[in-house]
Amino acid sequence: MSLSDGDQASIKRALAQLSFAAYLKPDELDRLVPAFEKTPIRKGETLITQGKTGELFYVLASGQVKVWLKGPYVDKLLARLDPPAFFGEMALLSNTPRTATVVCEEDGEVFTLLRGTFRTLLMDNRHVAELLRKTAAERQAEIQALEDQEWRDKRTKLDKPAA
Ligand code: CMP
Repeated sequence: MSLSDGDQASIKRALAQLSFAAYLKPDELDRLVPAFEKTPIRKGETLITQGKTGELFYVLASGQVKVWLKGPYVDKLLARLDPPAFFGEMALLSNTPRTATVVCEEDGEVFTLLRGTFRTLLMDNRHVAELLRKTAAERQAEIQALEDQEWRDKRTKLDKPAA
């Protein structure tokens, strides 16, 4: 379904606050905006599931989401995202499964781009691609830090002599 003028204005407003979008030229922005789809999100809804294939890139326009690293026993909170924010870029950038699970924490709206459109955006604009890759690398480092911590905790438990 095509976006109304009001929706196009709100995706432009959301993008204007995101670092990578500063590198979009006005004509690039005008071509990109109608490619987004608007979707309402509801508290408790899982938007992305860790380990699954990624098909969409998300811009959070309103509401709130939490990003969870799923573990065999417990899930760990990686981040809470409030607008302006984007997510779902990592699997699409590197053609890997989703790195985390993203759950809606507060009702709102997301704007989504299909994988193909997102990949075209990256190919057309080197600066946008660089900024998105930089954020993805920072996020990956946070995942790694949590996994390392978990591993250290496990080792400490194993090393402790039984009482
Ligand atoms: P992707 O791997 O496609 O799907 C899960 C998304 O969660 C991921 O892209 C990122 O957008 C997001 N994510 C992963 N790790 C973090 C983090 N440390 N901080 C914020 N968001 C993250």
